[in-house]
Amino acid sequence: MSQKNSLGFGIVVHGGAGAPLEDADGCEAAVRAGRRAAEEGADALQAAVAAVVVLEDDGRFNAGSGAIVGLDGMTIEFDAAVMDSNGRLGAVACLQRVKNPVLVAQAVSRSPHWLLAGEGAERFARVAGFPAHDAVHDRAVHRNRRLVAQLRGGQPARHGVDNESFRRLWNYPTAWPGSEPGDRGAACDTVGAVVRDGEGRFAVACSTGGSAPSLLGRVGDTPIVGSGFYAGPEGAVAATGVGEHIVRHLLSYAVYQWIEQGMPLQQALERGIDLFPDEIDVGLIAISCTEAGSRSNRCMAASSSER
Ligand code: GLY
Repeated sequence: MSQKNSLGFGIVVHGGAGAPLEDADGCEAAVRAGRRAAEEGADALQAAVAAVVVLEDDGRFNAGSGAIVGLDGMTIEFDAAVMDSNGRLGAVACLQRVKNPVLVAQAVSRSPHWLLAGEGAERFARVAGFPAHDAVHDRAVHRNRRLVAQLRGGQPARHGVDNESFRRLWNYPTAWPGSEPGDRGAACDTVGAVVRDGEGRFAVACSTGGSAPSLLGRVGDTPIVGSGFYAGPEGAVAATGVGEHIVRHLLSYAVYQWIEQGMPLQQALERGIDLFPDEIDVGLIAISCTEAGSRSNRCMAASSSER
């Protein structure tokens, strides 16, 4: 454990690549929740989870109560994960009908497994005491209508992906939806928190409503260890952006390794962002023994606090 030069408690949170800067007050509230949890005795992982719960409950970010809805206009599939430098690891993918997916991921970290998906994940959530919760909200439904309208037109809804592929490969149990023309509705943001606690432990927690447009059952980077998140004895890293691209670089583990090798944290974040062409939304947050920071090629609401 790297207690040697550790600066004590520190936290960085983000509201997703593309999250408007005016929503930074939500990130500041999340930082306060993480700090408060630590002051009440929470370790790094518990503090990171406390921060992400606030972001999930905020309603403005693509996670929890603010999650986007699938192309059928009614299904939300959540991904979430937690990890710490003590080896605790838990994740959920394509989880439906819960209020706070990050809490279910934390519960998975206490189970015999590291990742649960789909119906099994939802049934696990019920057994673990999380009640059924319908998170679909009007804003998500309207956004989906705009997105479907865009898919019917010529302008690509997702960079590098043929709009027609979503209709051709349609795998929702309902029919392809109709819609009025409208504005851009694509999304892929995630929320996340990285924490260094007073004992020199590191943790990361992250959560997302996934990507739009996407087929049913799509999983991005957020619940994939080393891609959407990583924590080890030298720090913690969380990524946000287009999962299909982030996983190909094992982005969070790559950035972690550069920090571990002694690269200044901000330089490691910039090197991570520079792996991607400008068309691809991507963002990163990280914390180490002595540094903390964030970087994105889009606007990205974020906040941090170091003691
Ligand atoms: N980073 C969120 C996603 O691609 O699912």
